[in-house]
Amino acid sequence: MPDSLRGKTILVMGVANRWSLASAIAHAAAREGAALWLTYQAERVQKPVEDLARELNARTAACDVADDAAIAALFARIGAEAGRLDGLVHSLAFAQKQELDQPFVETSRAGFAQALDISAYSLIPLARAAAPLMTAGGSIVTLSYLGATRYVPNYNVMGVAKAALESAVRYLAGELGPRAIRVNAVSAGPVKTASARAIKDFSSILDHVAQRAPLRRVPEPAEIADLAAFLLSDAARGVTGDVLFADSGYHILGV
Ligand SMILES: NC(=O)c1ccc[n+]([C@@H]2O[C@H](COP(=O)([O-])OP(=O)(O)OC[C@H]3O[C@@H](n4cnc5c(N)ncnc54)[C@H](O)[C@@H]3O)[C@@H](O)[C@H]2O)c1
Repeated sequence: MPDSLRGKTILVMGVANRWSLASAIAHAAAREGAALWLTYQAERVQKPVEDLARELNARTAACDVADDAAIAALFARIGAEAGRLDGLVHSLAFAQKQELDQPFVETSRAGFAQALDISAYSLIPLARAAAPLMTAGGSIVTLSYLGATRYVPNYNVMGVAKAALESAVRYLAGELGPRAIRVNAVSAGPVKTASARAIKDFSSILDHVAQRAPLRRVPEPAEIADLAAFLLSDAARGVTGDVLFADSGYHILGV
């Protein structure tokens, strides 16, 4: 699908480094002809984001999604400089390492609130701020994981956050659909990124999926990115409120 995003302005949130799924999605969107905005959470990750932005001819902005004022400032700037938005990629999540290291039953009230705030709630104010700029309709894509609906050892509070995120996808899709704004999630199989490394024993998940998934390998970031690019494109104009898997087929297994 060459040029499937030509003429579209797309905001990609969640690049921390070149291994980030958001980085692969930004590459795919640029290849498909999109004009890109990239955000970075904090100065700590500004340099890799600026480097990627130079490569992809993208504009950059800071946005910590825990900060309502930062969200408002981001969309005010996009409105002023780009005038419109066609796509939003929400590829970010956070849980304190401690919440992933200890048994799930020990999850703290504060750790739960923070993980749900950053990883699930943030999609709602971002969609609220993006929608008025999606004057010709739009597509919002977030990243989820099988741990939303299945027990995955050590995924812990992040599984609960992904369940909330997938539910938010359906509620946002229901409300924003009449404005021609679609909302979907890509449920990605395991990929070695900074966030994934925070999950205890993550390498055993990688090995297990590589041995058992129908395709007998873990997904490539580019495969996950291509599914996100499809959802951003008009080829997916009839798809909303859904969770699509890019996981080498692992989620279909019964035993
Ligand atoms: N890597 C995997 O195996 C995998 C599988 C399924 C889903 N996912 C999901 O993909 C998404 C991207 O993760 P990744 O694996 O690329 O890891 P990553 O560490 O590269 O990306 C996570 C991003 O979240 C950002 N972030 C965290 N707190 C933030 C805040 N307060 N404000 C703004 N940004 C914030 C970080 O800066 C980082 O860019 C996450 O939602 C993750 O849960 C990852």
